[in-house]
Amino acid sequence: MADQKQLAFIRLRAAKDRHQDDGPGVTHDLPLDRAARAPGGRQDREVKLSAAMDQSLRRGGLMLAHGQNRTVPEAPTKRDAVIRLKGVHKAFDGAAVLRGVDLELPAGETTVVVGPSGCGKSVMLKHIVGLLRPDAGEVWFHDTRIDRLPEHKLGPVRTRIGFLFQLSALFDSLTVGENLAFPLREGRPATAADLTARVGEALEMVDMSGNEHKLPAELSGGQKKRVALARAIMLQPEVMLYDEPTTGLDPERAKGIDDLVVRLKDRLGVTGLVVTHDIVSARRVADRIVMLDKGRVIATGSFDELVRSDEPRVRAFFEAAGHAASI
Ligand SMILES: Nc1ncnc2c1ncn2[C@@H]1O[C@H](COP(=O)(O)OP(=O)(O)OP(=O)(O)O)[C@@H](O)[C@H]1O
Ligand SMILES: [Mg+2]
Repeated sequence: MADQKQLAFIRLRAAKDRHQDDGPGVTHDLPLDRAARAPGGRQDREVKLSAAMDQSLRRGGLMLAHGQNRTVPEAPTKRDAVIRLKGVHKAFDGAAVLRGVDLELPAGETTVVVGPSGCGKSVMLKHIVGLLRPDAGEVWFHDTRIDRLPEHKLGPVRTRIGFLFQLSALFDSLTVGENLAFPLREGRPATAADLTARVGEALEMVDMSGNEHKLPAELSGGQKKRVALARAIMLQPEVMLYDEPTTGLDPERAKGIDDLVVRLKDRLGVTGLVVTHDIVSARRVADRIVMLDKGRVIATGSFDELVRSDEPRVRAFFEAAGHAASI
């Protein structure tokens, strides 16, 4: 059931591409061309990832490719909130999960959400793309209130938001390359070579080059996560929602993903919301941190402000994570 919803979400993202009219539609036959495999062999993975991202961003490649012409916001107005949640309540079978969440995502900034397991972080993310509807409260995307929009009107909103699901949500019967191409293939006006190259670039950004032909079952949890991230950024999102992007990754690769999150923000003005238990990662990517507990926001501030907070629950959380944070 959840898979079906996520599939519908990705199909809606693909609708964005159908509306572009920069050439006749081409149907692509998958699997993808092996020629897209990027050469490996560089010793320093971090340098390689950075170089791949810079190269792609510099030449207007992956993120701005194929007639997207999405302009980078010249100077994101920090006070403008791209997403706002006002007093959002949600219960399942009478059990309250969100109890009046107020949250704003300032344009061009990365907001990190931390909080105990089960406190409602993933549920909150799903409200932002309309996969869940609040029992009470409001969800806004720019000037549009979206929590009451009928499903067919959510499409244009969803096309602008990339979502990395906590459990990756790859299609098990599709190869890695097919998973990445999936959101783009319906009426995508690009050549098969373009598509193949674009898949290759996205995989290189997450250090997964050469894995186009593998099935998800052949990947580790961390590898699936990185493939899912590559799929999410294929669509040039204005907002990225990352649900535990570094969970299950070794420290070096986790840093690579953190660097990607930072670069998407710095180079493309992407507004980010990162849910994480990884305090090292939170400190690297956050412009500000929001702490959620028992379905409410209990603290907001910079990393340093929250570390020094007197609020007992915030203190307990950061003290428990303190060892990692001091690395
Ligand atoms: N579709 C659903 N139906 C019923 N209960 C749900 C549903 N989705 C989430 N819940 C419940 O809501 C609560 C919050 O879940 P959520 O996934 O948001 O937690 P979380 O903060 O993301 O935790 P974690 O850090 O472990 O990922 C949990 O008790 C969960 O069982
Ligand atoms: Mg979660």
